[in-house]
Amino acid sequence: MSGLFITATDTDVGKTVITGAIAAALRTRKIHVGVMKPLASGGVTDQFGNLVAEDATFIMKAAGIAESERSLVNPLCLAPALTPAVAATVSNIEVNMPAIIKIYQDLAKKYQPLLVEGVGGITAPLWQDYLLVDLMVELSLPVIVVTRPNLGTINHTVLTVEYARQRGLKVAGIIINGWNENEVGILEKSNEVYITRLTQVPILGKFPYSSKIGEGNIEGSELARLAEEYLQMDKIISIIERGSNDE
Ligand SMILES: Nc1ncnc2c1ncn2[C@@H]1O[C@H](COP(=O)(O)OP(=O)(O)OP(=O)(O)O)[C@@H](O)[C@H]1O
Ligand SMILES: [Mg+2]
Repeated sequence: MSGLFITATDTDVGKTVITGAIAAALRTRKIHVGVMKPLASGGVTDQFGNLVAEDATFIMKAAGIAESERSLVNPLCLAPALTPAVAATVSNIEVNMPAIIKIYQDLAKKYQPLLVEGVGGITAPLWQDYLLVDLMVELSLPVIVVTRPNLGTINHTVLTVEYARQRGLKVAGIIINGWNENEVGILEKSNEVYITRLTQVPILGKFPYSSKIGEGNIEGSELARLAEEYLQMDKIISIIERGSNDE
């Protein structure tokens, strides 16, 4: 077992929720799962005055990772809600990618598998001209793309998958997030059909919209249940077991 890299077609699509849901399901299956958000921006100040990433809080809770591991789970948290390269520059901080990758390697030895949440979309600049996709290539983990169900998603999903391929990465699966089975119509259904046909990447699940998630008060057990019901967890585990990102 090594891990998964969870990216998305854009920011705010649901990487954190899906990473947390997969982690919660693996944990419930007694798998020693770890999580990482290598860089985060838009950090918030916690009760002790520390700058923290809410994404890290969510995925750590879902995976059952102690607060003491936060600096490994999320080695860099920047305050401005900007892409990391710009957030770092305006904060007078230099992003040390080799140091972050070393922390990833240490965490990957400790936890099997390690789920890594991306930042924004696939070309988000992390530092100068080093993009998220460059990190994905370096880590060489199987990639999952989280997409929206609604208008515009065909374009965003196809471009993301094709760009990943252009960079030598294979996308192992797509997860549609925020799928509301009672409300889906021709738009969502045809999006799903086109995404499958145009990318030839399997859809590993349609994760439902849950108001509890939106309100930020969902328990790990409930997240795990949703993942088991709506995601193809056995297939996700076999993707993890197959390992590295070979086209
Ligand atoms: N299935 C869902 N049901 C209800 N709310 C959701 C769901 N998925 C995501 N959300 C909400 O939508 C917002 C964006 O989701 P999330 O934080 O997972 O996106 P992201 O892709 O990780 O964003 P970022 O690029 O900032 O890391 C959050 O407020 C989250 O609670
Ligand atoms: Mg996130």
